[in-house]
Amino acid sequence: MAGGVICHQSIDEFKRDENGLLRENLIIKGNNLIALHSLKEQFRGQVKLIYIDPPYNTGGSAETFTYNNTFNHSTWLTFMKNRLEVARELLKADGMIVVAINDAEMFYLGVLLDEVFERENKIGVVCIRHHPRGTTQSSFFSTVHEYALFYAKDTERVTENFRFETDDVEEEESFIRGREDATPETRPNLYYPIFYNPVTEEITLDNKGDDFIQLLPENRNGMRTWKLVKESFLAELKEGKIEVRKTQNKYEIYRKIVREKNKAKTMWTAPRYDANHHGTGLLKKLFDGQNPFSYPKSLYTVLDILKLTTGADDVILDFFAGSGTTGHAVLELNKQDGGNRQFILVEQLEEHIAVCKERLEKVIEKDENIKTDFLSCELMPYNAVFMDRIQSAQSTEELLEIWPDMSKDSVLKWYVKPNRPEDAAAHFIAINDVEKQKQLLAELLDKNQLYVHLSEIADETFQVSEEDKTLNKMFYSKESQ
Ligand SMILES: C[S@@+](CC[C@H](N)C(=O)[O-])C[C@H]1O[C@@H](n2cnc3c(N)ncnc32)[C@H](O)[C@@H]1O
Repeated sequence: MAGGVICHQSIDEFKRDENGLLRENLIIKGNNLIALHSLKEQFRGQVKLIYIDPPYNTGGSAETFTYNNTFNHSTWLTFMKNRLEVARELLKADGMIVVAINDAEMFYLGVLLDEVFERENKIGVVCIRHHPRGTTQSSFFSTVHEYALFYAKDTERVTENFRFETDDVEEEESFIRGREDATPETRPNLYYPIFYNPVTEEITLDNKGDDFIQLLPENRNGMRTWKLVKESFLAELKEGKIEVRKTQNKYEIYRKIVREKNKAKTMWTAPRYDANHHGTGLLKKLFDGQNPFSYPKSLYTVLDILKLTTGADDVILDFFAGSGTTGHAVLELNKQDGGNRQFILVEQLEEHIAVCKERLEKVIEKDENIKTDFLSCELMPYNAVFMDRIQSAQSTEELLEIWPDMSKDSVLKWYVKPNRPEDAAAHFIAINDVEKQKQLLAELLDKNQLYVHLSEIADETFQVSEEDKTLNKMFYSKESQ
């Protein structure tokens, strides 16, 4: 069941790579389950990272299930399961998914991910201090953290080393192996003289005369060995890694080493993960002091996740896009490392889509080093149009006006008889409660038909324009038209 798409820009040709894969940044408005099925046509097995920050099902004001705001626990799990199963199909063989979550559903989400992705493919759970001041609502603990659950499609295929570039450290160490068992007798091939000229600073294994000082691996415990055999020593000398330094009338040999980058730790406590400063605060700065979105993630949380899990040309998908932090982080990381990562964002709420687009436009506009853009698309709303009209109606009269259009142009549930609106109207008016009337009217719509499915685009009922039909053909075909 792939949904149709409409794009808001007029497009002559989509950018594609040599294999015909669509290489455009996309922002898609629509229900993410349908969007995932639509994306499957193009992106099955192509996405390197899926990052999602779903509604946490805490029931607070942060909840954003507009059509579904009374989710109970098991409904939430089913909602997630349906999406995770399709999401998995989109991942590359070496792809990964990272899901943000808090204590409310953490255990259940973990079990669900174990089931959908299999336990062996769990990469790890990172605890992120996103709210250092702590929550105040709870009677018990003041919570400062949330989680990011990392799973691979197949851990054996993952090639990333889970080290942060910035943790790379260059250090120096003595060239003498100090261990007691490292003696000239036990390791003769590590014991040889090295010659040094203090004037020219030449270091050599050949005795070139009186201007050279002979150095041996001796420390205060007696004669030891060097750390490398002659051949390796000469190789490092050539690379400029060997140095002689004078300390207290003694010449000592040092060797530069790059200490292996540290593996990323599972506890992320740095100030950059504070969602208030680097999520809400950052958005406020971009939106001239206004606060356009509740509870965005810190840009740096998503940036660090991208650093650990993606390479320069990867496709990144976020199907709970919200204010578009993931898109922003992709742009930022590409700027930092010259990469060409591509983002696909899905969001169903009009007001969130608006924030997301404006945010990314501003980020691109303000930074001359970011030379990219995005396409804004929409799953073709069909019954969704009526859903919106019902939701924004204020009175019984308004609702009654929607009915004739709806009976004619929407896909109703099979048991609704559109040709008997007159009888129904009297009962409808008698309910005398606008909210109940809205629910009743919405009930009649077939929710499986909120969006036009790709296979039905040619159907006259949907009155899809020729232009949109062509666009859909272009979108779903693997080759440029
Ligand atoms: C917690 S927010 C994500 C915030 C985002 N990480 C950020 O930093 O801005 C979850 C988002 O998912 C959207 N959403 C919820 N259910 C959805 C659905 N079924 N389809 C598409 N979007 C949905 C909500 O409207 C909301 O914007």
